[in-house]
Amino acid sequence: MKADKNIENAKNFTADNNAPVDSAQNEPKTTEAQMSVDQYLEQLHADFDPVYNLLTDYQCAVMEVETKFNILNSRLSMQGEHNPIESIKSRVKDYESIIRKLEKLHLPITVEAVEENLMDVAGVRVICSFIDDIYRIEKCFVSQEDVTLIMRKDYIQNPKPSGYRSLHLIVKTPIYTENGKKDMYVEVQMRTIAMDFWASLEHKLRYKKNLNPDTAEQLAKELEACAQESAKLDEKMLRIRDQIIEDAAAASDNLQDKAEH
Ligand code: GTP
Ligand code: MG
Repeated sequence: MKADKNIENAKNFTADNNAPVDSAQNEPKTTEAQMSVDQYLEQLHADFDPVYNLLTDYQCAVMEVETKFNILNSRLSMQGEHNPIESIKSRVKDYESIIRKLEKLHLPITVEAVEENLMDVAGVRVICSFIDDIYRIEKCFVSQEDVTLIMRKDYIQNPKPSGYRSLHLIVKTPIYTENGKKDMYVEVQMRTIAMDFWASLEHKLRYKKNLNPDTAEQLAKELEACAQESAKLDEKMLRIRDQIIEDAAAASDNLQDKAEH
């Protein structure tokens, strides 16, 4: 993360392209120019290896958490009628966004500052079928021995002014590296398909620039109204599902009664 030094080294690198070659042995001489390439690579490793290591650790944390959710999905779908998880989307923040966030928070641009202060570098988004699946899976996930709940924000019970709904969890969970165990922060966002549909489109529209303030305010109101509509859809789907479960249970009781008499 020492950009200036790299730019300086990159300049050396391009200036040394004409490194002389020993024609007799057809091998480049170990000249000052060649040394400079080695130094450049050495510097590149010194600067970037800690960053790559850090991003790899976050990638591992994402894989650990994804696996936990995949296992829960398999276990719970064996007990019920449906897969409670529709899909899982994950990402590790790219280093440019990490640096911008450190800058925004007036933190030093170091690996330690990232590890200690940024809790959303590793992100796992779990898309569930129904609202009650979210809370059921959350309960199973946070009760696991190696998952420590750090923060919980329920934007389903308390939607954001924009209309945004999701359940956000910040957890700490270990990864096991060649150097031993390391606890990592992971941000988990849990939402239904309807919540995800709204959030994805709203996110795209929010980045449309050059709207005049009146239009922007009008559109924000409309988007919030869409969020309320989609919340109603979630409730309706839940009622339909409960109705189906009730009817199926009643039909099976009837069958059993008939079989017994
Ligand atoms: P950040 O600095 O953005 O991480 O905010 P925060 O740490 O206070 O977290 P918050 O819980 O407010 O939101 C974090 C994430 O939730 C964002 O990065 C988005 O993925 C999502 N999010 C929050 N609010 C909205 C919203 O109004 N619309 C959409 N589409 N996504 C949102
Ligand atoms: Mg965040």
